[in-house]
Amino acid sequence: MKVIAFNGSPRKKWNTATLLEKALEGSRSEGAETECIHLYDLDYKGCISCFACKTIGGQSYGRCAVKDDLTPILKKVEGADAFILGSPIYYGTVSGEMRSFMERLTFPYSVYSNPPQSLFPRKIHTGLIYTGNAKEEEMNERFGQHLRINEMVLKMIFGASESLGSFDTYQFDDYSKVVSDRFDPEKKAKRRKEIFPIDCQKAFDMGARLAGKAS
Ligand SMILES: Cc1cc2nc3c(=O)[nH]c(=O)nc-3n(C[C@H](O)[C@H](O)[C@H](O)COP(=O)(O)O)c2cc1C
Repeated sequence: MKVIAFNGSPRKKWNTATLLEKALEGSRSEGAETECIHLYDLDYKGCISCFACKTIGGQSYGRCAVKDDLTPILKKVEGADAFILGSPIYYGTVSGEMRSFMERLTFPYSVYSNPPQSLFPRKIHTGLIYTGNAKEEEMNERFGQHLRINEMVLKMIFGASESLGSFDTYQFDDYSKVVSDRFDPEKKAKRRKEIFPIDCQKAFDMGARLAGKAS
């Protein structure tokens, strides 16, 4: 059983990466083999709209024809039993690298039929983990629609998906060094100490659940 996490934050040890690592720990607790891929290490672009993946009788039908660092990664997804996408919220949606990755990941399997169909050959479980500065109510109110669409697309293509948000995150090592009077550093530190561990446990449970469902 293989579970892959994709980190859509440029930071490899911060909020998103930590939650993904916890999720993978949860998957390992169910016996899964795990891997974390940092998208910002890779050189790629989003979908270039070439439609090679949709060309009737084409060699790349159902597969992305673009050759770059994502080519072997997309192949890995074909063999995975579950995967988790983790991203910070940047201006109300996922980071640019995650957005580009999601286009390349989902569009080749997406058939322009009515009703829409998926060319992904199996049903697998997927998860989405978001982190953001906003409080939970703000996040749901302002960005909820984007986040629901992501889950809907993953459900349609891969069969199942669930989402987890970690809100009001601790963003800097030292708030006193950054212009950020919108935030109260003490409240941020308290939340980091008291709430973030709960979010980590939720991420662990998600990873265990996805791996458990896959087995
Ligand atoms: C370019 C940029 C844009 C951001 N936009 C938002 C936003 O729209 N809403 C929000 O809640 N947080 C926003 N944030 C804050 C991050 O989402 C938040 O600190 C996140 O937890 C960072 O994840 P990381 O620690 O894994 O890098 C933004 C941060 C950056 C760098």
